[in-house]
Amino acid sequence: MRKILAPSILAADFAHLGEEVRRVAGAGAEYIHIDVMDGMFVPSLSFGMPVIKSIRPCTDKVFDVHMMVEEPGRYADAMKEAGADLLCVHQEACRHLDRTISQIKGLGMKAGVAINPATPVGVLDCVLEQVDMVLIMLVNPGFGGQKLIPYTLEKVRQLRRHTDSLGLDLDIQVDGGVTLNNADQVLAAGANVLVTGSAVFGGDAAVNTQAFIKKFEEFSR
Ligand code: DX5
Ligand code: ZN
Repeated sequence: MRKILAPSILAADFAHLGEEVRRVAGAGAEYIHIDVMDGMFVPSLSFGMPVIKSIRPCTDKVFDVHMMVEEPGRYADAMKEAGADLLCVHQEACRHLDRTISQIKGLGMKAGVAINPATPVGVLDCVLEQVDMVLIMLVNPGFGGQKLIPYTLEKVRQLRRHTDSLGLDLDIQVDGGVTLNNADQVLAAGANVLVTGSAVFGGDAAVNTQAFIKKFEEFSR
């Protein structure tokens, strides 16, 4: 399965955001992971449509927008217009998840569904065939730089076993606490889209991006 790096710009230097996006894109990241927080679903506030719109001209890589927002369907049109390619909503934040997924797909975006650490993967059974990606949070959402919660990897294994048994070629994304040191473990569990914030932007973002991609190649060998 194709392995994709999705650097999270939450950990980037906002004073030079466009440049940071260009650097990771140029170094081989296929997705740009964009964390939108509403101060309700998660305690923090981050940024929204105007910021996404302003960095859209910097790259044609996939804008993977992680909506940590209550009832994210309210913003689907605006996110599409701002430049989102893939809109990932939390199962816990959608009262009518099926409708929200249809709305996203109807707008021509790819649809992802995220679950928090304490949410079991079984809640996604009914929508697995409709979504392009499932995001399994490895930390409680809201902040960068946290440590991966070990039991969440078992959920990745469980979901990969399940999608394999259904013959579904589903992208499984993981987010939170992913580093060069645990990337092998996360890939072995069955994830193929890795979000990394501080592990990429905490140092030279281009060098770190290349190091992750090298890891992917070694793992696939
Ligand atoms: C956390 C966000 C993450 C975060 C990851 O709520 O969804 O995308 O930026 O950051 P690290 O890789 O530093 O844990
Ligand atoms: Zn995220």
